Amino acid sequence: MDILDRIPLTSLENIMLPIEDASGLPNALYHDPDMLAEERDRILGKTWSGIGFAGDLPTLGYVKPITFMGLPLVIVRGQDDVIRVFHNVCSHRGMILINTAGPVQGNIRCPYHSWTYDLTGQLKGTPHLGGVGVHKLDHFNCEQHGMKQLSSSVWFDIVFVNLDGQAQPFEQFIAPVMARWQPFLGGSGYARMRREDPVGDQLQGAFTLNVACNWKLAVENYCESYHLPWIHPKLNVYSRIQDHYHIMFANEFAGQGTNVYNLADSAGTRLPVFPEWQTERMKEAEYITVFPNVLLGIQADHTFAIVLEPITHSQTVEHVRLMYVGDESIGETFKGCRDATLKAWKEVFGEDVGVVEGMQRGRASPGFKGGKFSPILDNPTHYFHQWAAKRLIVSTQSTRN
Ligand code: FES
Ligand SMILES: [Fe+2]
Repeated sequence: MDILDRIPLTSLENIMLPIEDASGLPNALYHDPDMLAEERDRILGKTWSGIGFAGDLPTLGYVKPITFMGLPLVIVRGQDDVIRVFHNVCSHRGMILINTAGPVQGNIRCPYHSWTYDLTGQLKGTPHLGGVGVHKLDHFNCEQHGMKQLSSSVWFDIVFVNLDGQAQPFEQFIAPVMARWQPFLGGSGYARMRREDPVGDQLQGAFTLNVACNWKLAVENYCESYHLPWIHPKLNVYSRIQDHYHIMFANEFAGQGTNVYNLADSAGTRLPVFPEWQTERMKEAEYITVFPNVLLGIQADHTFAIVLEPITHSQTVEHVRLMYVGDESIGETFKGCRDATLKAWKEVFGEDVGVVEGMQRGRASPGFKGGKFSPILDNPTHYFHQWAAKRLIVSTQSTRN
């Protein structure tokens, strides 16, 4: 079925109007179960989407299977310490190769007929391929039948993939963010970010939120500060709506910033800060969405990254990971500060759950047709909607031509 049978072109064109006249994305893009696969192929798959975190694969040879918008994928940390992403299927009969996360000893072995692959995806073994006891065949070229690799890149500890392989190089894609954050992170701040070590197989400085809403509502809510006074009353005491500003740039990024961030303090101890961070800007912090599904936060003494995992059209998992500055920041001395930081973010993100879920339920209503924006305080939401609408318009036009 053509996507435009469910989403009239006019509703997408309305989004492209100036914000005063525009309305938002139509309900079907939140409420219709079939739209998730459409979005995967027409929006998320055409750019760089977040699928996980390199720090979640702690050792060489670690593999982590995931399902991203219905696609079985596997993230692999090779013996060369390079993170690669593959389709998690065997080239023989399409069996799922990896079912559980953990370190692999030697090669990856398919559980069905035991074809084996090394951690770079090369097909290494094909037992009895030519009949019992005959493991190789002359005309069968193993090089052509390895695991199928996707374009991927790791930045800010996030594993990004480009499903269709046609997007611009990742470095080029992310360059505007790095340029914007030059006064805070310089070029070297990224290499200083540290995750806490896991305890057993329990990740630290990490949590997930299961929210009953479409992934886009989590983006929209993250980008704007309009809701602060009512949804985050505690935060609003010192970080008021007027202390925030909105950010939109390079057609791929939007969010908000604050001028009054208080560095984490626990019993007089303070976390180490980025040496690159300009001293007079210590109280500034920025929260940016890398469209489509990665939410970032930077403060002078810690950062966090959130990958939104769209499960269904109305179910999203938010994977949150906190990072601190330099090796000593993850030691015992700063545990109190880290715990306080984690607790504070859990509380703030928890406060948002009710509203994103409420908006999701609201999108079942024929009484809502994309809504009306505040021309001043909803501009990041409109920016994101335009980003998505543009891609849908282009993609439907190219399908039709
Ligand atoms: S399906 Fe993997 S070896 Fe047969
Ligand atoms: Fe919020």
